[in-house]
Amino acid sequence: PDLSTLLGVQDFEEVARKKFSKKTFAFYSSAATDLISHRDNIESYRNLLLRPRVLRNVKEVSISRKILGCDSSAPFFVSPAAMAKLAHPDGELAIARACAEENIIQIISNNASYPLEDIVAAGRPGQTFFFQLYVNSERQKTEELLNKARNLGIKAIFVTVDAPIPGKREADERISAENFVSAMSGAVAKNDKKGGGLGRVMAQYIDSSLNWDDLEWIKRVSKLPVFLKGVQTATDAKLAAEHGCAGILLSNHGGRSLDTVQPAMATLLEMHKECPDIFGKLEIYVDGGIRRGTDILKALALGATAVGVGRPYLYSLAYGEEGVQHLTEILKDELVSTMKLSGITNIDQAHPGMVNTSRLEHL
Ligand code: FNR
Repeated sequence: PDLSTLLGVQDFEEVARKKFSKKTFAFYSSAATDLISHRDNIESYRNLLLRPRVLRNVKEVSISRKILGCDSSAPFFVSPAAMAKLAHPDGELAIARACAEENIIQIISNNASYPLEDIVAAGRPGQTFFFQLYVNSERQKTEELLNKARNLGIKAIFVTVDAPIPGKREADERISAENFVSAMSGAVAKNDKKGGGLGRVMAQYIDSSLNWDDLEWIKRVSKLPVFLKGVQTATDAKLAAEHGCAGILLSNHGGRSLDTVQPAMATLLEMHKECPDIFGKLEIYVDGGIRRGTDILKALALGATAVGVGRPYLYSLAYGEEGVQHLTEILKDELVSTMKLSGITNIDQAHPGMVNTSRLEHL
């Protein structure tokens, strides 16, 4: 269908389901075991109810936001997702170009299908990129990658901590992997007794011995702000602050790692109770299940600085760079409308009182 007929984020999923190969769609859309957490991520926003205020002159609205001090035209970014080339020949390059046009931030995956330098070069000079890291059992390789990232002007490192081992994603396992190679990590996907899971084979280099003591090393080598991606409890949020992290991305990997874990919104509520002081100390981002402008505003109202969008961006690559831009514009447009209908004109005005959380608290 013509791109202009796609009106909402979910429309891109339908196109991707028809257009992508069965293997690609299975890899992108899959989640761990019974898909409970993947669905709950989306459900969590439906169970947060907005409390709009009226008569507040909402003619002019601004949605721009500083994310880790970097300018962004919107309070959302592209979450890191592996192997965008399966969706479009330009893969992560198309995302980088669209992010340049739209002035939003892309977090580049450690398992991207293009080398880091090519993705950065595809953008414009000075464009903000963050890099998502999986620590390699061969630490030397991680040191090289971190040095490269810093020299390329990457602004922050997101260490993924919710996947010391890959989740069990049956839809991905069921379809043959056909020797796919990931450019950045060099991992080769094959079929074996467990199936043909791309995610599982790609994860083989990840060091499952990683622990809190290693963060000092990552900070020292990268010389960049370090975020933890995949924090799921207030207890670990506190530990992240104690270990000198610049921030945390509350995430359960889009429900792809451990199934039946709580959604990021539940963790955010837990933090308000257990460690409210953390909100002033760390940058706090969330991802998983963001599909509407209303979802974005709810997360911001409850204290997130920014939110990440994963699968929808991969699906939007059905239309290459233009699709990524169109998806971004839909989300921006929905966020503007949500703010006007909620009675605020700047995202700094978003506050917890805008959201009735009682349904989510009783789930
Ligand atoms: C991911 N995600 C991910 N995360 C990460 O830290 N490194 C990675 O390489 C990947 N790869 C990846 C591939 C695919 C196909 C998906 C769908 C996801 C997780 C991603 O960053 C993010 O946390 C979720 O996608 C957010 O959930 P939604 O927006 O997809 O619901």
